Amino acid sequence: FRIAVFASGQGSNFQSLVEAASNGKIEGSIELLVSDKPQALVVQKAQAAGIHCHLFQPKDYPSREAYEQEIVEKLNALKIDLVVLAGYMRLLTPVIVEGYAGRLINIHPSLLPAFPGKNAIGQALDYGVTLTGITVHFVDGGMDTGPIIAQRAVEVSAEDTAESLGESIHALEQQLYPEVVSWFAKGLVKLDGRKVTIGAKEC
Ligand code: GRF
Repeated sequence: FRIAVFASGQGSNFQSLVEAASNGKIEGSIELLVSDKPQALVVQKAQAAGIHCHLFQPKDYPSREAYEQEIVEKLNALKIDLVVLAGYMRLLTPVIVEGYAGRLINIHPSLLPAFPGKNAIGQALDYGVTLTGITVHFVDGGMDTGPIIAQRAVEVSAEDTAESLGESIHALEQQLYPEVVSWFAKGLVKLDGRKVTIGAKEC
């Protein structure tokens, strides 16, 4: 089961996926990191782990479709089964969304549909919720709008800051994302319209 991760940032989720694949929690391999930020820490993490990187600068291309076409060719050549977004800070066009429909997932640091888009943790604090969390979902053409696969909640205390809440959320993400990817590797996740089922593997 061959996995590609798209990421633009620190790469803590990327690292947890790499570790889960190497210790057998995910029955699959991380074959590729795609990043639009060649300077990002996640790229150093991939290089340290010996994982192949596809790095690009969006400004070098005439359109989003142009660089996504190149990415899709790479994904196809590597026979990627699942594309995992982990802090990839760009909306995708139909080139990837339709090309990888049902095989494209994201993790978002809120209980969707609350607080989509950027700075979800800050949005939740500003709103004053006492419960927030994380969501793993399929990616569709919208901003964090695709069918939900799994969620976990985190309580927010009056003392929480963006930093402390961010730490709790990241810790939970690093447990949940490898677990969800392991379900995909086992063939357990099915999508029918917006309905997601996680069930026993068919024989
Ligand atoms: C995570 O909080 C994830 O939910 C969001 O971007 C962040 C990426 O963090 N989509 P990292 O780069 O994996 O550390």
